[in-house]
Amino acid sequence: MERKYDFLVIGSGIAGLYFAQKVAALLPHRKVAVITKKKETESNTNYAQGGIASVMSTVDSFDLHVADTLRVGAGLCNKSVVKKIIQWGPKTIDNLVDIGVKFTKSGTGYDLGREGGHSTNRVVHALDLTGREIERALLHSCRRKKNVDIYRNTIALDLIAYDYRGRRRCGGVYTFSEKTRELAGFYAPVTMLATGGIGQVYYHTTNPTIATGDGIAMAFRAGARVGNLEFVQFHPTTLYSPGRRPFLISEAVRGEGAFLMNASGRKFMRKYHPQKDLAPRDIVARAIDTELKETGEEFVYLDISHRPASFIKRRFPNIYKECLRRGHDISKEPIPVVPAAHYVCGGVVADISGRTDIDGLYVCGESSFTGMHGANRLASNSLLEAVVMAEFAADVAAEYRESKKSSDIPKTDEWLHSSIHRLKEKIVVSHDRQMIRRLMSDFLGIVRSEDRLKLAHDRIKLALRAINQYYLSRPASYAIIELRNIAQVAELVVRSAKRRKESRGLHYILNYPETDDKRFKHNTIIKPPGYKSNRSGHGRRR
Ligand code: FAD
Ligand code: SIN
Repeated sequence: MERKYDFLVIGSGIAGLYFAQKVAALLPHRKVAVITKKKETESNTNYAQGGIASVMSTVDSFDLHVADTLRVGAGLCNKSVVKKIIQWGPKTIDNLVDIGVKFTKSGTGYDLGREGGHSTNRVVHALDLTGREIERALLHSCRRKKNVDIYRNTIALDLIAYDYRGRRRCGGVYTFSEKTRELAGFYAPVTMLATGGIGQVYYHTTNPTIATGDGIAMAFRAGARVGNLEFVQFHPTTLYSPGRRPFLISEAVRGEGAFLMNASGRKFMRKYHPQKDLAPRDIVARAIDTELKETGEEFVYLDISHRPASFIKRRFPNIYKECLRRGHDISKEPIPVVPAAHYVCGGVVADISGRTDIDGLYVCGESSFTGMHGANRLASNSLLEAVVMAEFAADVAAEYRESKKSSDIPKTDEWLHSSIHRLKEKIVVSHDRQMIRRLMSDFLGIVRSEDRLKLAHDRIKLALRAINQYYLSRPASYAIIELRNIAQVAELVVRSAKRRKESRGLHYILNYPETDDKRFKHNTIIKPPGYKSNRSGHGRRR
């Protein structure tokens, strides 16, 4: 089956939906398709709790927010990207409010939460369900637009990328619907990748099951560079709840006075950082890891029970209810928590407007790498980055679309079936998925070593080769499509980590415990096989 659009948006989280509704409004005569692999709301965005960092108070300033972001980013942030995104913070909040997002108010302004690494309160939120509220409003806005079609339960499996007049170009995406078992080609001059993070590459993660790094893997296979994938952020506090769906305990809880303690009831963060429980995330996660190794316990405790129960229930209704459902009354007792893989600071190399190495291919949100987060993301900066990128990308992508004549867009039928026609039978792939995820959690966690990186790389390379063969000879299914992407992204994460022979931000390696500014104060960029830059003007080798 073939479908033609002007804009394809892969993913229905904050980045994809914001882009879709804006580009649909800019060009009402053009058609937009949003393709999403489960139901529309299933995304990392939907689970965001803390909120969106933005300078909103008179005691705050852009300079302060920039300084916090750069400090936490440990020397690798792109300062001009950071500045521009942060300066767009207040406008971003206004835009979201105009779309219909209802943030929590306090007096005449917004209630501003506090999170690790921030030197003041600046996190705009909707109680502790910020992501759900944003998804609701953006989906509503997209559904009201006549020129937006939403395809749910449809997974993108590969980009339709080709060489055209000496340049690499994207003409759309192949998709598969597990319900109808239908393979399709969606064709458009503009494809926006907004597929989110990679949490599911790890066994212990805060991310929902959709976060399998599909966009990063697809873009790499299509010929785009990826960057800084060694910087995987571990959130310090997920509820210890073995065998159950992961549940985050927002850093905003520590922002309201909660503190960490070990099994013997000792508060330990003062040992590790002057900002104690509100130190940057890498420091807090590593401190917990150290405590767990020293005590042999499986979790530490987080305690907010000294705050009035009425306040806790009002400020954190979702966290309170979910913990209670799992047997913990946070207003009365400390709760067990552990760190888990949460956010990837790297992704597909892009500029602030989402332009990638491939003409017609854009990327926004967690799948992208702009240099905003450096070696460690400041809490609540990612929703901000996603919206600002989508805002800018809609402008440049609309201009790109309008500059194309239909004769510029090559005929499509020659590519349809090129990568998907051989998918035939059925296979069970859960074993390999679990193996890779466990390997990543055990060997590429908070503290790394050269031996473990080498072992992980050898095993993942073998698995990737075998999985690529399965993929080409077996039937399409979500399981095999996601497994192929998980394996590809895991391999890229390990390869990036092996290159960085120093410790910086989220990458801590026992063999090189110091930061080495002389040799490693640069990003880790991985080029796909045969890569040649469009920017060189000579096209690329294939
Ligand atoms: P997502 O919201 O993850 O959306 C990705 C979309 O792509 C989904 O719809 C998915 O189904 C779809 N998709 C993926 N692959 C495919 C495919 N192959 N085909 C079709 N569709 C596909 N950040 C903050 O700034 N503040 C917070 O308070 C905060 N809290 C968080 C709490 C939790 C529990 C988690 C997990 C993350 C949190 N983050 C927070 C991070 C932030 O939520 C994410 O970085 C952000 O939501 C990513 O948005 P996105 O649009 O890039 O991706
Ligand atoms: C949280 O609420 O702790 C998550 C914030 C984030 O990941 O930015």
